Amino acid sequence: MRIALALFAAASLMAAPASGQAIDPNRMPPHLDPNRTPNGLALTPPMGWNSWNRFGCDVNESIVRRTADAIVDSGMRDAGYLYVVIDDCWHGPRDAQGNITADPERFPSGMRALADYVHSRGLKFGIYSDAGRLTCGGRPGSQGHEYQDARTYAEWGVDYLKYDWCYTGTRNAEEAYALMADALRATGRDIVLAICEWGNNQPWLWAANIGNLWRTSGDIFDSWEGVDRWSIGVMNIVDINAPLWPYAGPGHWNDPDMLEVGNGGMSDSEYRAHFSLWAMMAAPLIAGNDVAGMDAATREILTNREVIAVDQDPLGVQGRRVWREDGREVWVKPLAGGGRAVLLLNRGEAPAEIEATWEQLGYPASLRAQVRDLWAHRDLPEATGRFAARVAPHAAVVVKVQP
Ligand code: GLA
Repeated sequence: MRIALALFAAASLMAAPASGQAIDPNRMPPHLDPNRTPNGLALTPPMGWNSWNRFGCDVNESIVRRTADAIVDSGMRDAGYLYVVIDDCWHGPRDAQGNITADPERFPSGMRALADYVHSRGLKFGIYSDAGRLTCGGRPGSQGHEYQDARTYAEWGVDYLKYDWCYTGTRNAEEAYALMADALRATGRDIVLAICEWGNNQPWLWAANIGNLWRTSGDIFDSWEGVDRWSIGVMNIVDINAPLWPYAGPGHWNDPDMLEVGNGGMSDSEYRAHFSLWAMMAAPLIAGNDVAGMDAATREILTNREVIAVDQDPLGVQGRRVWREDGREVWVKPLAGGGRAVLLLNRGEAPAEIEATWEQLGYPASLRAQVRDLWAHRDLPEATGRFAARVAPHAAVVVKVQP
């Protein structure tokens, strides 16, 4: 994993918006092309599981099968987790015709059989590639093989492609991602495209009709806050992703990276806050833990349907921070039906009283509303004008306010 991170860092330096790159001045930027339309997928933020955060390059087909089984048995599938995504390091070499193959030792049954198995469990199948010569883990990338790889994925039954940005040299990101988007569309199969260039080229400005989600930051690591080489903690990512709320909507989401819930580096209270903030930000909910081995507390967090409903609300508006002071924050997400999800966040080290006013929620102060606690799963007294709660350190309280 360290090697992959180092490669990632080197590549991200190389991938910084290049001033000297050759761009044909007569070519229309893909996002201005009136013929480019959304692919119609991911009308709510994608939900699923990805191998990277827990398994890194140590992924194989038995992990994927047992995870698919556990997603079903734990109730995660029925709670909405659909995409089972294999991240980096599944690849073998290209064959004589240039077709990508799976690593025969890690995936002896082959990708087609694995996809069939995942589909047989009522789930969808995802895979990973890279717009450069190599993936961040040093496996073959898709540069120069875009249409060929897209056809291979479609033959295998792939439903989701995470497309990374290592070893891309001076490639133009918008064009590189548009090329793969077109290749996927040309297969005729519905394939969600997850853009992963870490926000380097501001994909929120150009990717709405190219990809269905785009990473906005460097890699998450399993920590409340901080920086570990090129990875950053949950609070650091939140501060990067929050101001981008105007760019998210049905079919095109800001992606603050995959969940760390259950990986052991944070307390359950911190994991609840992490999960709640991702739901408030209408983020893709891609679990990153060992689902087959998770404890009850982890399962309870990942399958909290009331919080998931906030993330998956059909209005598709990314919630935003409306107030912050001394480590205390108020977040609001407008919901279909006129309600609001409200999150009170305490980043501090001591319990804190935090208040949300109706003005912050965009309601008249005199409005009377029902209030429901989405972690305690109980109705609170009706409220007028304000709602306040005492919030533990490194924790969030999440309520739904419904006039
Ligand atoms: C990059 C991505 C990660 C992961 C690794 C795999 O660092 O940002 O999410 O896919 O590559 O090598």
